[in-house]
Amino acid sequence: MLQPTARCILLLGATGTIGSATAQALLQRGFDVVCVTRRETDLPKGIERRISDVTDMDTLRRDVFEGVPYDAVISCLASRTGAPADAWAVDYGANLNALTAAAEAGARHFILLSAICVQRPKLGFQQAKLAFESKLKQSDLRHSIVRPTAFFKSLSGQIARVQAGKSYLLFGDGALTACKPISDGDLAAYLVECIDNDARWNSILPIGGPGPALTPRDMGEKLFELAGREPKFRKVPIAMMDLTIGGLTLAGKLSAPLAAKAELARIGRYYATESMLVWDASAQRYDAAKTPETGEEALFGYYEQVLKGQTDVDLADHAVF
Ligand SMILES: NC(=O)c1ccc[n+]([C@@H]2O[C@H](COP(=O)([O-])OP(=O)(O)OC[C@H]3O[C@@H](n4cnc5c(N)ncnc54)[C@H](OP(=O)(O)O)[C@@H]3O)[C@@H](O)[C@H]2O)c1
Repeated sequence: MLQPTARCILLLGATGTIGSATAQALLQRGFDVVCVTRRETDLPKGIERRISDVTDMDTLRRDVFEGVPYDAVISCLASRTGAPADAWAVDYGANLNALTAAAEAGARHFILLSAICVQRPKLGFQQAKLAFESKLKQSDLRHSIVRPTAFFKSLSGQIARVQAGKSYLLFGDGALTACKPISDGDLAAYLVECIDNDARWNSILPIGGPGPALTPRDMGEKLFELAGREPKFRKVPIAMMDLTIGGLTLAGKLSAPLAAKAELARIGRYYATESMLVWDASAQRYDAAKTPETGEEALFGYYEQVLKGQTDVDLADHAVF
């Protein structure tokens, strides 16, 4: 069992995309790392695992916090579905359990993986995230709230379509939105560096990858070029999404599964129409220049690796967000 040290970090969500990159980044920097998982799964060598239920306060206290004075907690927890009930249970509830137990146990710092989209909240899961951000800001712990732009996996869903000779789907004209994609490794490094970088303490930290900002059309064009195929786009009007959402919302009043589909369609529409960049409230627009950048890994380098079969795309359950 791990002996408590001043450099012992508790990592939540270590089995997820960013959580597993963060586990590696912590190990590389010499931290002692404890991870909480809900079942036996592969974790990198050198990590201590605690199996527990983060949604249950007493269990979490007993299994994870008793007797270990963690220096910091990094939470990469996120609901797997994005459905409102799941988001309130995990993004809000489980994080609040961890914050409460961490404060009781004397931890000093809580680093949260949030999302840049909460700056213009329209969806249930965004409200759940914001509610926890607010609890964290009010707590006595030092906080770093990291709000990244889009992950590579969420921008890679059409690689297989292009490889199969199909057209690339664009919402509107393909230039309604833009983002500065951030790689798993660059985001993990950013999260871990919050531990010692006091410029990132008690702050909300929007963060993108190395830039420039890319539109879906930019991504499609580059993907065809890298795949050596003639560009072929199909435009999906936003009005068509609105019709679908309207129908599902009505039907959802009678059926819970259809209500869940309506929420997923709303999530899709949000990402089809809102940029993952810093929102400039005074100018009422997204601003690429105001969106901070970190790291070196570029989305198109990743596309090349995927096309060459050198890496797999982890689309996971919620690739859209
Ligand atoms: N995708 C994007 O482009 C993007 C952009 C900006 C921000 N974000 C934000 O980043 C976060 C998603 O990160 P990610 O893609 O790394 O997530 P992910 O791969 O879906 O991982 C989610 C983690 O949370 C754990 N978890 C979920 N429900 C749980 C439960 N009931 N009990 C215990 N553990 C639970 C999962 O454990 P299991 O393995 O046991 O399920 C997993 O470790 C979200 O907050 C999202 O809003 C995403």
